Amino acid sequence: MSTKAVLITGANGEIGHGLITQLTERNPNLRVVALDVHPVNKELKERCHETIVGDIMDTVMIDRLAAFYDFQSIYHLAAILSTKAEREPVLGHRINVDGTLNLLELAARQSRASGENVKFLFPSSIAAYGLPDVETKMRAGKVKEDEWSSARTMYGINKKYCEDLGRYYNWYYRQTDPQSAAGHVDFRAIRFPGLISAVTLPTGGTSDYGPEMMHFAAQGKEYNCFVPETATLPFMVMVDAINALLQLEAAPAKNLTALVYNIGAFSVTAKEFYDVIKKYFPGAKVNFAPDALRQKIVDSWPADVDDSLAKREWGWKHEYDFHRAFEEYLIPAVKQRYQK
Ligand SMILES: NC(=O)c1ccc[n+]([C@@H]2O[C@H](COP(=O)([O-])OP(=O)(O)OC[C@H]3O[C@@H](n4cnc5c(N)ncnc54)[C@H](O)[C@@H]3O)[C@@H](O)[C@H]2O)c1
Repeated sequence: MSTKAVLITGANGEIGHGLITQLTERNPNLRVVALDVHPVNKELKERCHETIVGDIMDTVMIDRLAAFYDFQSIYHLAAILSTKAEREPVLGHRINVDGTLNLLELAARQSRASGENVKFLFPSSIAAYGLPDVETKMRAGKVKEDEWSSARTMYGINKKYCEDLGRYYNWYYRQTDPQSAAGHVDFRAIRFPGLISAVTLPTGGTSDYGPEMMHFAAQGKEYNCFVPETATLPFMVMVDAINALLQLEAAPAKNLTALVYNIGAFSVTAKEFYDVIKKYFPGAKVNFAPDALRQKIVDSWPADVDDSLAKREWGWKHEYDFHRAFEEYLIPAVKQRYQK
């Protein structure tokens, strides 16, 4: 008999770190299977039932996992983030789309074999939106899930398409089969804003100028910010993002009318970031040296999101607003990190 477990791909990443810690703290008996191309650190390894160094493109390895485990939930975090996907679009597409397809297939096979739904948690992004210019963006204000859906980056297009794939696997998978299967993929996606973690360094997202500013200031390093002071994006601290994933996973299916949800916490300019960082690190030095091409990408992402659907259907609520995030979560943790 297969072992019941939860699979986390991209386990060694920023979200993976926090997610494994939170999941295993809430339920120490949960069997977490962690997969990443890079080995996870010792502390995380001890929290997992099995850790695998492997590639989501390796279908032989995925078949082996399917033979050993009966996954109840899959958190599919592995991805090539926006900056790298824009430099290497074919690689971005392969990992972000074909890789996701491999995991959706795993979930579909397992749900059909067991007759029980497999929850598939997918971290989408505000990159799935595409606004034509900064004026339209600022006029649009809080965007809803079904607005401005012409993504402009390879990463955003990949995320948007995977949301569509999720809808296919959730509702229409092999719809012409004469007999429908009892179990299906229960696809649930969140369009995350830029995430800020105090414990892990950002790894090449276009919204990373905010967290990078803080990590540079904490180390006494000057930071060259690639967007202008006025650049505005929605952000959220990592703890809230992880709570959202866990909350959506736990939400009763009958309450959910959508497969993709916005969630928000605070929307700030790059200057507001700098100002709050100077409050805690008075010597912080940021040079605003906009890179016109990267700025264009930021300009195509919404300034803020409408998350009323998530609030209504699964009780989403952020814990940290902008000032509380720095005062109580980011600054104490980042100071501790660099004082070591
Ligand atoms: N961090 C953010 O601000 C943010 C915002 C929106 C959405 N997301 C999404 O959340 C997810 C996790 O993001 P993160 O910030 O933890 O990113 P990250 O880059 O820190 O982590 C991604 C992990 O995936 C692994 N990975 C990459 N290619 C792989 C492959 N082929 N096989 C197996 N593992 C592979 C990497 O080694 C890395 O550990 C991603 O899907 C990302 O698109 C992140």
